[in-house]
Amino acid sequence: MKVPHPIPYQGSKRSLASAILDYFPEGVNTLLEPFAGSAALTLAAAARSVARQYIINDLNEPLMDLWGEIINSPEKLARQYECLRKAQHGDRRSYYDEVRDEFNRSSKPDHFLYLLARCVKASVRYNADGEFNQSPDNRRMGALPETMREHILGASCLLRGKTDLLKLDYNEVVARATSDDLIYLDPPYQGVCGSRDPRYLKSVLFDEFVEVLETLNHRDISYLVSYDGRTGNRTHGRPLPDRLRLHLVELKAGRSSQATLLGRNEITVESLYLSPALAVKLSLCRRYPRRAAEQLALLEGAR
Ligand SMILES: C[S@@+](CC[C@H](N)C(=O)[O-])C[C@H]1O[C@@H](n2cnc3c(N)ncnc32)[C@H](O)[C@@H]1O
Repeated sequence: MKVPHPIPYQGSKRSLASAILDYFPEGVNTLLEPFAGSAALTLAAAARSVARQYIINDLNEPLMDLWGEIINSPEKLARQYECLRKAQHGDRRSYYDEVRDEFNRSSKPDHFLYLLARCVKASVRYNADGEFNQSPDNRRMGALPETMREHILGASCLLRGKTDLLKLDYNEVVARATSDDLIYLDPPYQGVCGSRDPRYLKSVLFDEFVEVLETLNHRDISYLVSYDGRTGNRTHGRPLPDRLRLHLVELKAGRSSQATLLGRNEITVESLYLSPALAVKLSLCRRYPRRAAEQLALLEGAR
């Protein structure tokens, strides 16, 4: 099934979603996505009916209002997007600015969708007053109305009736998980994904984040974290500490376009960390001692 993806969003995990789903256990009750953004993982999971229900959360309120419209009023939203998209005229810059001003006054979800479809790198940026201030990318016309319509209706069909939408800080959301649930955490790299208040972004502090994960470990909660990565030999972000006992998987995220521009043929790799409880469910942690024991037996046999 082609997975719908209605919200263009910088940092979306759309292309890695299927590789991440390989590490989902059987029989998930609720999948929680506390840093949802475009909720690429939830959409991919719902397309494969991996969980019974879903929680999508993001601190960005207009983004969650947009999710509300996608799921509960898809026809209306698709029509509104079509109107905004078709009204683009010769001076697209001033039209974009009008839509952006209106969004900053009213926070209308259809206006936000149009802005995300047209702005530079689909990247959410706010000024110190909390106003959306990202510029348009003149090469991005925004998805065609019929394409956007398919994505919106497809997402609604997958998530309606089984999804709760929240606008909370991530730590309030993970507190709701039980041992039958699964949490997928994709916190912002500082300065990459926006929340309403740019200063707040910095408050997804490393130490606090590690503490939240420690609490989840104590409660035996299954979770996966996308956190750091590397391109060639260069690492991005700070690795999560050993004391969390996470199981690290490296996922190939593709060829780095920046490295290609510089004449280097480098692959970008993203780290996916699995919680101890999840590793047990997937029998991953047992494989290591077993393998080590097998190797030892082989060595001893060779003596
Ligand atoms: C890396 S993006 C997630 C991208 C997502 N995985 C996707 O596929 O689109 C991180 C998200 O976390 C949100 N965010 C930032 N701080 C947060 C917080 N303290 N609690 C909840 N969400 C937060 C941002 O608004 C942003 O949408």
